[in-house]
Amino acid sequence: MRKKDHIRLALADKTKVTSLDSYAIDYNSIPLFGLDDVDTSTSVCGDRWEYPFFINAITAGGEDCNKINQDFMEVSKKCGINFFPGSYSPALKSKEDEEAYPKGYSVNLGLDKDPQLVLEAIEKSQAKYIQLHTNPLQEIVMPEGDHNFESWYANLKEVSSKSPIPVILKETGFGMNEATIKLAIDLNIPAVDISGMGGTNFARIENGRRTDKSTYLEAIGYTTAESLEIAYSYKDKIDIIASGGIRNPLDVVKCLALGAKAVGVSKIFLEILVNEGKAALIQEIEKWKKEVKFLMILMNARNIAELDKKIRKVEF
Ligand code: FNR
Repeated sequence: MRKKDHIRLALADKTKVTSLDSYAIDYNSIPLFGLDDVDTSTSVCGDRWEYPFFINAITAGGEDCNKINQDFMEVSKKCGINFFPGSYSPALKSKEDEEAYPKGYSVNLGLDKDPQLVLEAIEKSQAKYIQLHTNPLQEIVMPEGDHNFESWYANLKEVSSKSPIPVILKETGFGMNEATIKLAIDLNIPAVDISGMGGTNFARIENGRRTDKSTYLEAIGYTTAESLEIAYSYKDKIDIIASGGIRNPLDVVKCLALGAKAVGVSKIFLEILVNEGKAALIQEIEKWKKEVKFLMILMNARNIAELDKKIRKVEF
C-alpha cells in the first residue's frame, strides 16, 4: 500500500519551477556540424551508456508496482536507455516480489538495510549496479520509518568494500552536500546520484500520509543545481549522476554541462507511463534522444565532454 501511496502522491505534485531554471545554455547561432556527428554516449562506473539519461528508481513490489517495472523494462529495451528499478525491500519479504524484481539491471536498497541482505540481493537480482539509497529525512517523516541511523554509515562502508558490482550512492530528492560526496570518495565509491530538490519531495509525500504533518521539514536539502555546483570540483574523482526534477531534454543537457555524467528521470516518465501508457513513453523517450542531440548542436558540442561548462547563470 505504501508504494502505491507514494506513486499517487508523487503524481499529484505539480512542481513547475526548478533550480535549473536559473541557468541558460550557451546558445550558438551558427551550427558547425550535423546530427550524425553528435555522440550522446557517456561513461558511468567505467561502462559505456549509449544515452546520457535513464529511468531512475521508482518502484517494486505488489502486482501493480511490479507491472510498472515490467513496462519500464520493455520501454528501456526498446529505446536503448538504462533502467534502474526501485527498492528491493519488498523482495526481501516476499518470494513473489523477489521473482518479479527485474533481473540483470540494477538493485536498489536503503542504507538502513543489513549489508548481508544487500549482498544477497545483488546476487539474486543479477544486478550490474547497486544503488544504495539514502533518505534519512524521508525516514523521519514517514509514519513507519526506520530509525536505525547509527548503523547507516557502517552499512555503507561494508557494502561498498564487499560489493562485487559498482556502488552508486543515491539520494532521493534532498540533494547532496560536500561532506557526503567526500565521504563517498573516501570509501572508493565509483558514483553518486546527487538527486536534488526540485522534483519529487519525499518529505511532502510522507506528510501527505500523516495526520500530524511536519511541513517545515519539506524545505530541507540542496537543490539539484546547488548539488551539481558542489560536486563539480570532485567530478574527476567520482562519477556524478544528476536527478531530481528533470522535466525535459534541456534539463538533461544543463546537468551534463554542470558536470554530470548521466541524468536520471523518475516522476516525469512515471507520469507518462501511468497516464498514457507504454507506447506514449517510448515516443517521448525517442523525442528526448533526438532533442538532446539538437541541443548539443546548438551548444556546439559533439560529445558529452564538450558540453562542459557551456552554461551560464541568469537572472530568474
Ligand atoms: C522514488 N524514488 C526512489 N528512489 C530510490 O532510490 N528507491 C526507491 O524505491 C524510490 N521510490 C520512488 C517512488 C516514487 C513514486 C518516486 C516518484 C520516486 C526517488 C527517485 O529515484 C528520485 O531520486 C526522486 O524522485 C527525484 O527525481 P524526480 O522524481 O524528481 O524525477
